[in-house]
Amino acid sequence: MAEQRIFTLVTGASNGIGQALAEDSALRGDNVLLVALPEPKLEEVTNALKAQYPNQEFHCLGKDLMQKEAPQEIYDWCREKGFVIDKLMNNAGLGNSGAFDTKTSQFYYGQMQLNMVNLVMLTHLFLKDLKTLPQAYILNVASMAAFYDIPYKGIYSASKRFVYSFSRSLRKELEASNVEVTVLCPAAVLTNPDVLARNEQMGFFSKLTQATPQEVAEYTIDRMLKGKAVAIPKAVPRFYKALGRIIPYNMKMNILAKQFIKQQQ
Ligand SMILES: NC(=O)c1ccc[n+]([C@@H]2O[C@H](COP(=O)([O-])OP(=O)(O)OC[C@H]3O[C@@H](n4cnc5c(N)ncnc54)[C@H](OP(=O)(O)O)[C@@H]3O)[C@@H](O)[C@H]2O)c1
Repeated sequence: MAEQRIFTLVTGASNGIGQALAEDSALRGDNVLLVALPEPKLEEVTNALKAQYPNQEFHCLGKDLMQKEAPQEIYDWCREKGFVIDKLMNNAGLGNSGAFDTKTSQFYYGQMQLNMVNLVMLTHLFLKDLKTLPQAYILNVASMAAFYDIPYKGIYSASKRFVYSFSRSLRKELEASNVEVTVLCPAAVLTNPDVLARNEQMGFFSKLTQATPQEVAEYTIDRMLKGKAVAIPKAVPRFYKALGRIIPYNMKMNILAKQFIKQQQ
């Protein structure tokens, strides 16, 4: 086996929040492993980091995390290369909009595999190694959607509720250990063209929640390194979450349905 070096591993690192998490980790001096779909952008982001931080190590691996075997292949790659992970950032995920029956069953199967199943599998594979280090971190990316039942976005919000619940319970299990678990619950983050277009259709109050990927990454890594359970970037989403607790359920559902039906029009 090769000589061991310590890395942060980020999934979905070729764009959006994942790219910003990789870049912010590099800025803090970490070596970074970038995993995403095998597209040219992944190499581009990795090469840019190599050029900017010549004294740190950056490697990328193209994998489709909708595939069942991907987590084991990522783990095996790390073992073979002698990459030791001390920060596992499970970021890759897929949203959706529109009425439930307007998407194929294969779409939902892939979305659930990516957002939930493979996030759990990666965590399960790496946890035994994380436990052997003096200090280690798991960052799981959920969403503000985790706190609501969202019509026209039901599988997405349910999958993010799963990530939130899994992260909080795992954190409790590991509280006496060296492994901190943080769950990121951002509101609207200005990442890919799809998200930008969807946010354009949202109302004034939703637009108030918007953040850039860089703002989200910096805030979240600070929270993670402080060992915080939850990261909700920006004050407005934190206020909306508190408000959500006092609004009656049916009223909340009507507001959400009205907001999110706009995304399919
Ligand atoms: N943007 C938001 O408003 C927002 C809000 C709350 C939560 N989130 C969550 O934050 C995370 C990142 O979102 P984002 O908006 O930054 O997404 P994004 O800009 O679309 O980037 C997603 C990243 O994941 C990669 N990816 C997509 N499908 C993949 C697959 N099957 N296997 C491996 N990698 C895959 C993409 O690779 P390619 O570039 O090659 O496609 C890209 O690197 C997601 O979990 C999302 O649910 C986002």
